[in-house]
Amino acid sequence: MVKPLIAANWKMNMTTGESVAFARRLAENLAQLKDRKIVIAPPFTSLYPVAEILKGTGIHLAAQNLHWEKAGAYTGEISAFMLCDIGCRYVLVGHSERRTLFGENSEGVNKKVRAALNRGLEPIVCIGETLGERESERTFDILAKQIKEGLNNLSTDDIRRVVLAYEPLWAIGTGKTATADQAEEVHGFIRGELGRTFGKEASSGVAIIYGGSVKPENITGLMAQPDINGALVGGASLDFESFARIVQY
Ligand code: PGA
Repeated sequence: MVKPLIAANWKMNMTTGESVAFARRLAENLAQLKDRKIVIAPPFTSLYPVAEILKGTGIHLAAQNLHWEKAGAYTGEISAFMLCDIGCRYVLVGHSERRTLFGENSEGVNKKVRAALNRGLEPIVCIGETLGERESERTFDILAKQIKEGLNNLSTDDIRRVVLAYEPLWAIGTGKTATADQAEEVHGFIRGELGRTFGKEASSGVAIIYGGSVKPENITGLMAQPDINGALVGGASLDFESFARIVQY
């Protein structure tokens, strides 16, 4: 049984003041939920103050991106080493906005995944198809490729520390969610692909979470599916009440 994981992706939103106020409410109201993992991914500027508030609460911190090198002349970048230093446990890798707006490819995603794992961070690796790819029935081919390239050279032990986030691009920020059945079909496919590469035993323990217009109204149906182990929530995670309802699905 995979422990459910609900993650908030705040993207480029929230000042430090807003982040701190949100984190305090989380710590006060939701830290007692021990049967699920709660993860918050604030912007880089808020990571440290939020880490200080979440310390000891059991609520985890994630960064939204990282660079694969440990240190050096990489202006504007942040390393896995630095993220660990301030208390991050997770890091998002290969979010579709990084892939489409900032030119990230699977090779870079793979370097980031391996850098994260090497430092003890748990990568939340995002994969998903566009509307055109779905309509031309290429969803499974695209996902198989993203999995193969993004998780290249990982061991069975590594895969146990990876979270896969299935985020169909046509559902992100559009208000258009995949139905629970559509998402479950893909999650089952992803688990099968992981099983072929890493073995059934390891793949059955991997958290595969869904992202794309998750809201309080659709979380229960999604979480009722056997291969949906959680959610990556964008827009609806910016409002405390709405995120709290999602976490308590
Ligand atoms: P959304 O974003 O919930 O606003 O669709 C999800 C994501 O991009 O992770």
